[in-house]
Amino acid sequence: MSQNGGWIVTASRDCRVTREELAVLAREVGAVVAPRLERPLASVLAEFGARFALVVQKRGLVASDGRDSVFFHPGMAHVRIKQMAAGETDRMVEAMGLRPGMTVLDCTLGLGSDAVVAAHAVGPEGRVTGLEAVGPLAVLVRRGLAGYPGRLGAAMGRVDVVAADHGAVLPRLPAGSYDVVYFDPMFRRPVFHSPGIAPLRGLALGAPLARESVVEALRVARFRVVLKERRGSPEFGRLGFTVVEGGRYSLVAFGKREAGA
Ligand SMILES: C[S@@+](CC[C@H](N)C(=O)[O-])C[C@H]1O[C@@H](n2cnc3c(N)ncnc32)[C@H](O)[C@@H]1O
Repeated sequence: MSQNGGWIVTASRDCRVTREELAVLAREVGAVVAPRLERPLASVLAEFGARFALVVQKRGLVASDGRDSVFFHPGMAHVRIKQMAAGETDRMVEAMGLRPGMTVLDCTLGLGSDAVVAAHAVGPEGRVTGLEAVGPLAVLVRRGLAGYPGRLGAAMGRVDVVAADHGAVLPRLPAGSYDVVYFDPMFRRPVFHSPGIAPLRGLALGAPLARESVVEALRVARFRVVLKERRGSPEFGRLGFTVVEGGRYSLVAFGKREAGA
């Protein structure tokens, strides 16, 4: 179900991970274990005929194609939660209409920033499930979300990471099983200076959001389906979303569709 093809699991030379730990990780990812890195990752990838690697380094897990690397970082989620705690509104939270106790299905988890902010907004009585089609990214994020302290850590602990393609999951979910269903697919036209997403581009699933997935999401959502895209994107019209006003100077926009409308 998840898109694991072409991945290996390995470790940097100076990292003390055991072979058994690597084997556990490889099973979780559904990848093969390659020997510890004694030479450039690109040549190991070539030898294994793999495109990507999940590398255990001293500072944690890194997903890499031998050129670009992605590691988990709470990044903007930390800043946004701080701003919300200081009384500022968050555009995504507003677009979703989140209140304490609500449930959210994030269909495009990525590095999990939006999911963590949503988990903060819905509070301890709420729940967030994040679907990520690229299995090793899901593992990177699942492990990354563990072990942070404070308000941020509490929100991270409420995100349940599932390595799966939403195209396969949504049709199997009962009607009305989440309050809000959220999509943030890779933008059709990338925002190149987006520091959190740029390195993800080579590793992530970049297919356009399917109309059928939006139809299923409208069945699964009790309240609303929200789409994030580049401001002015034709995707909003193609998929039937009404753009939420606000953030006139922002490069991104949110669109919503009410369930049952
Ligand atoms: C733009 S990123 C999401 C960023 C995320 N909102 C965040 O705050 O970090 C899109 C992610 O969705 C994943 N994705 C794309 N299509 C998917 C699908 N059909 N099912 C599950 N995940 C998908 C991509 O692999 C990528 O990691």
